[in-house]
Amino acid sequence: MLEADRQEPPMEVIITNSHQASGHLVADLVCEALASRACPALGLATGSSPLPAYAELIRRHEQEGLSFANAAAFLLDEYLGLPGGHPQLYRSFIQEQFTNRVDLDEGNLFSPDPTASDIPTTCAQYEQQIQEVVGIDLLILGIGSDGHIAFNEPSSSLASRTRIKTLTQATRQDNARFFSDDLDAVPKHVITMGIGTILDARHLVMIVTGKAKANCLAQAVEGPITAMVPASALQLHPRVTVIADEAAASKLKLSDYYKQVYAGKPRLARHR
Ligand code: GLP
Repeated sequence: MLEADRQEPPMEVIITNSHQASGHLVADLVCEALASRACPALGLATGSSPLPAYAELIRRHEQEGLSFANAAAFLLDEYLGLPGGHPQLYRSFIQEQFTNRVDLDEGNLFSPDPTASDIPTTCAQYEQQIQEVVGIDLLILGIGSDGHIAFNEPSSSLASRTRIKTLTQATRQDNARFFSDDLDAVPKHVITMGIGTILDARHLVMIVTGKAKANCLAQAVEGPITAMVPASALQLHPRVTVIADEAAASKLKLSDYYKQVYAGKPRLARHR
């Protein structure tokens, strides 16, 4: 193995055989980020893919004393138009699934404010809040089946910042499962971190599960960088870890190579 491979794979792809294993890997990376400076900042995705990781972090908090007391967390995106307290508001979702179950201070959980009367100003303030904590150390991402990250739909500028976006019909249909399969209940608009905002984070960790994500993952990792596949912008970032299950990885041309690289990594340097 080349020394360069050991130290800084530009995009590391780790293929796991269980959601539990992927949860452990992500939790290890989050622990590393939490230990990296006095007041670390995390970026948190919603959706189902990160849930095993959040469950493992809650377990480590409860059983091993892992603390988020000095940390800040930033949500990637938020729906517009849902009534306050709606369980599918991403802020409610992440509180219920993760942050209320660890010792993260609620005042340090940041999310775009969907009730703001002036959306462009609230988006600019969100960018400012990220800058005030000196940037995000580790940002957890999922991927939409159309290749979106956060809610940056295909055709989003690769340099975009936090802003309002209109969801595609495909994304609304995908997310209708969280709204009792009622497509009309899924908001049409959202506020999302931009792709440029995401690329500013120091470490990006994308979790990808299931066969339905196989095509978009292959396009994102091995296809050309294009606004039509927003996740392909991750190829521009110097430190990305993709954690995929076998089904999601099934269309990667170089999957054997990624496995070989990871297997050959010195144990202490795994996913570093
Ligand atoms: C939503 C979120 C994304 C998430 C995606 C995939 O669209 N805005 O951040 O990555 O869903 O969700 P899941 O992990 O449930 O497939």
